[in-house]
Amino acid sequence: MVKESQTTAAIRGQFLDFADVADCPSELADTVRHLKDGLLLLRNGHIEWFGDWEEGRDKIAENCPVHQYPDKLIVPGFIDAHIHYPQAEIVGAHGEQLLEWLENYAFPAERKYQDKAYAAKMADFFIDQLLRNGTTTAMVFCTVHPESVEALFTAAEKQNMRIIAGKIMMDRNAPQYLLDTPESSYDASRKLIEKWHKRGRLLYAITPRFAPTSSPEQLEMAGRLKKEFPDTYMQTHLSENADEIKWVRTLFPERSGYLDVYHHYGLTGTRCVFAHCVYLEDQEWDSLLDTDSAIAFCPTSNLFLGSGLFDLNRAREKQVNVAIATDIGGGTSFSMLKTLSEAYKVMQLQKQKFSAYEAFYSATLGGARALSLDHLIGNFSVGKEADFVVLDPAATVLQAKRLETSKNIADLLFNLIILGDDRSIFHTYVNGCLVHKRDD
Ligand code: GUN
Ligand code: ZN
Repeated sequence: MVKESQTTAAIRGQFLDFADVADCPSELADTVRHLKDGLLLLRNGHIEWFGDWEEGRDKIAENCPVHQYPDKLIVPGFIDAHIHYPQAEIVGAHGEQLLEWLENYAFPAERKYQDKAYAAKMADFFIDQLLRNGTTTAMVFCTVHPESVEALFTAAEKQNMRIIAGKIMMDRNAPQYLLDTPESSYDASRKLIEKWHKRGRLLYAITPRFAPTSSPEQLEMAGRLKKEFPDTYMQTHLSENADEIKWVRTLFPERSGYLDVYHHYGLTGTRCVFAHCVYLEDQEWDSLLDTDSAIAFCPTSNLFLGSGLFDLNRAREKQVNVAIATDIGGGTSFSMLKTLSEAYKVMQLQKQKFSAYEAFYSATLGGARALSLDHLIGNFSVGKEADFVVLDPAATVLQAKRLETSKNIADLLFNLIILGDDRSIFHTYVNGCLVHKRDD
C-alpha cells in the first residue's frame, strides 16, 4: 500500500515544457525548459518534483518505481480546445462546405446519440482515441441529447481525465429530431451542471451550437445559465464560413455583427471559447480581448471544409488568447501533432511564422491558459496535475532517418510535428497513471 505522503512514481527521461511566466510569443524561447536527463516525481496524481536527474535522484525512495524512457521526449499532455465526440464516425465525409456538411453528415450522425447504449460505446471509443493521440484534456461538444453528455462524462471519469463538455442547445434550423426548446435546453443543461460540473476533474460547458440554430429566447436562456453558474464554460462557433456569416446577419439584423449576438446574451468572457474565427471584423477582435474570451483555431477543419485561413498574426497583434483544436469531425485527425502540422501550413499560405516552440506551446500551456486551466495543467510545475505524454521521435523508419540530421531540440520538435501522428505517442499518463501504451 502506498502511503499518502509517499512519492508514487518517478519518471526519468528527456523533458520539454514551458515555464509559468507571463510571456508573449516573441519571447517564448526564453520560457522553454529542456532537460536532457530529467526527473519527474509524482504523488497522488500530481507533480511533486521536477528537475535534473542528478539533482533529484536522491529524493527517490527505495521502494519507489522508476520508469526510464531513454531516447524518448516527455511533454505535457496535449489540450484539444474544440472537438465533437459524436462526429468521430463521420471524419472525412466527402464533398461539402459547412452548411451542407452539417445537414448531410453531422446532423444524421448526431441523431444516434439519443440511444444511451450507443452513446456509451462511442464515448469509450472517443476517450480511447484521445489517449492514443496523447490528448489528455479536451473541450467537447456532445449532442442535443443529455444522454450523450452522461455517456461522455462517465467515460472520462473512468480515466480520471480533465474534460470540459456540454449538451448542445439547438431549437431551430436543424432537423426536428435534433431540436430542443429554450425551456427544455435550460432545464437539461442545469441538471447536467448540477450533477457534473467540478465533479472530480470534470467541467461543464454551456453549449449553444451556433447563432443560426438558437432562437433569441434560447440564447437568453444560455446567458441566464452562464450568470447563474459563472464558473462554468461556454463554447460555440463563430465566423467560420462566409455563407454562415451572411445567414447570421439575416437572422439577427438588429445586432452589429456575429460576435455581438453572443455578447448581447452574455455569452462572452473568461472561459468562453469560440471555435474558428476565420472572418472577424476589427471590432470583434477588440471585443474578444476586452471580454477575455478565447479562440479555438481548427486548422484541419478549416482546410477540409474549405472555410478559410485563420489569421494568427492578427490574434498575436490583438493579444487574443488562442488555443489549438482538431474540430473532429469537420477536422480530419485526432492527432494534435498533425493538427500543428496543418496549422504551420495555414501560416505558410499567409506568409506567417509558426515556430516549433510556438506550436508545442499552443497545444500545452498555451491551450491551458486559453481555457483558464493553467493553474492545474499545461506543464511540469510542482503541484500541477500529472498529465503527460512520452513521445517517440523515431516512431517510423523515415523519422528515425530524419532524426540523424536533426540539429537541436527545436529541429526535433518540428520533425515530430511534420512527420508525427498517433504512432509517435509511446505512452500517455493521466493524473499520474499510465493509461495508454502504443501497440508495438
Ligand atoms: N458550426 C455549427 N456546428 C458545427 C459543427 O458541428 N462543426 C463545425 N465545424 N462547425 C459548426
Ligand atoms: Zn466545431
